[in-house]
Amino acid sequence: MVRIAVLLSGGGRTLQNIVDHIKEGKLTAEVVVVLGSRPDAYGLERARKEGIETICVPYKEYKREGDTDGFSKAINEHLNKNEIDLIVMAGFMHLFKADEKWNGRIMNIHPALIPSFCGTGLYGHHVHEAVIEYGAKVSGCTVHFADNVYDHGPIILQSAVPVKDEDTPETLAARIFKEECKLYPRAIQLFADGKLEIVDGRVRIGEIENADKKGKSREC
Ligand code: GAR
Repeated sequence: MVRIAVLLSGGGRTLQNIVDHIKEGKLTAEVVVVLGSRPDAYGLERARKEGIETICVPYKEYKREGDTDGFSKAINEHLNKNEIDLIVMAGFMHLFKADEKWNGRIMNIHPALIPSFCGTGLYGHHVHEAVIEYGAKVSGCTVHFADNVYDHGPIILQSAVPVKDEDTPETLAARIFKEECKLYPRAIQLFADGKLEIVDGRVRIGEIENADKKGKSREC
């Protein structure tokens, strides 16, 4: 049973999806704590409704000084108080510099195909606006191990979707979010099963996944 800390800033649909997968027995994990960067983040409310411990580290208090290190230190201190195997960023919209011990144990999901349409300023709906504005024909989502650069680190899984001529940022976001809801639990389960290994900065997926890849077509 992998013990997870979820970091979020907003509505918490990603958290809810993870919790629902756990409740339905589709993911062998436990969310032990949810940390929010805004006191009014609805994701914190969702966590409380599920009986999960919540913590808030308000980004606003550090933003004034542009103090990423202070913000990260406060988060690391909270995380260190709990027994946690994996940190899952679920719509966490700030750079978080995790302590070194979390290398290879912190995941992020981004609603585009990294390394495209990612980085500072490109989060949530901004991503889909940029994709449509550019005229890209495919987009998608990426789950990756996070390092100390925003939306950066070894890629675990990706899923692509078409960008249609008639798409608005909202319709594209909805198509991609459907994929996110499948992709993140899969990546977390792979971690829980000990099947993810980082070799030379790239993720290798263990035997069963590779056998699966050879046998049938999959969405990623
Ligand atoms: C998700 O689409 C996630 O991929 C994106 O924010 C949304 C969070 O929704 N994350 C990023 O853009 C990170 N760069 P939620 O708050 O409802 O879970």
